Amino acid sequence: MSHFDRAAFIAGLPKAELHLHLEGSLEPELMFELAQRNQIDIPFKSVEEVRAAYRFSNLQDFLDIYYQGAGVLITEQDFYDLTMAYLTKVAADACRHVEVFFDPQTHTDRGIDIGIVISGISRALADGQAHLGISSKLILCFLRHLDEEAAFATLTAAEPYLDKIFGVGLDSSEVGHPPSKFARVFEAARAKGLHLFAHAGEEGPPAYVWEALDLLKIDRIDHGNRALEDDALVARIAQDGLTLTVCPLSNLSLCVVKDLKAHPLRTMLEKGLKATINSDDPAYFGGYLNTNWLAIAEALDLKKDELVTLAQNSFSGSYLTAAEKQAHARAITDWAARF
Ligand code: HPA
Ligand code: ZN
Repeated sequence: MSHFDRAAFIAGLPKAELHLHLEGSLEPELMFELAQRNQIDIPFKSVEEVRAAYRFSNLQDFLDIYYQGAGVLITEQDFYDLTMAYLTKVAADACRHVEVFFDPQTHTDRGIDIGIVISGISRALADGQAHLGISSKLILCFLRHLDEEAAFATLTAAEPYLDKIFGVGLDSSEVGHPPSKFARVFEAARAKGLHLFAHAGEEGPPAYVWEALDLLKIDRIDHGNRALEDDALVARIAQDGLTLTVCPLSNLSLCVVKDLKAHPLRTMLEKGLKATINSDDPAYFGGYLNTNWLAIAEALDLKKDELVTLAQNSFSGSYLTAAEKQAHARAITDWAARF
């Protein structure tokens, strides 16, 4: 009987990433380079010192340092370099498609024009498609700790660039900032033809997931871990066929789970939920896409058929066309046949 080489299987398994914050892919090395290039002071003396600061006990701990890090991003080229560094990393993870978030308010609140941000990111995404063969969609996230008016202002500012924006999302501090706060701005985004996503049930209660579904009418749930506390909610998500973008190393870093062996990923699959594996903020949480795949696969002893399901879910939960999804599904089956 041949041994199943899980690491080799994951390494070449075609996959998509559906939950990735571009600002969360800012590696300390690039942070230093950009700080120097833009003559910005950062409160760290070395890359080691930065990494040592990446110990979080909850979401807010992380967000404080994440917004601070994003302060080195100033020029169109900075946003290009950030995005291209990410794409280069995941190209090596057999990642074929990405649907990525960015946080415009983190930049516009520092006086950076939203056009500069979108231009740098989308130029890199186009090059990623041309040179790395990675297709992509770009999702604009509203910061939920800011008010509704600020979210509306962001949507208005993005108006000239909507040809480059696929959808809107909702991120930042969850508890105390329920989806209901953004029902009207999501309705306005929907009216502009944008797809709708929201972080829900990462730290927030099942009620926030219900609100994201019923009030925001989202197409996909980011995280969704705490949905498992509510059987009726699980049934609803399964019935609607909604995808959950789950982030194992993020959950571990932010203490959403105590250890990866206690992670609910397999439970989600067993309950008929379309879970996927994603990295969230890989520069902060200890690894990119395949590092997440391998860590959770080892912790839960995921079998080949479960890994295949997770890879299939990453494409079926994406917004590729039916023909594109079918081509990727076949590539997964072909890869699996070799093991
Ligand atoms: N949750 C909420 N906001 C975020 C996250 C997250 O995991 N990552 C970046 N912004
Ligand atoms: Zn996230």
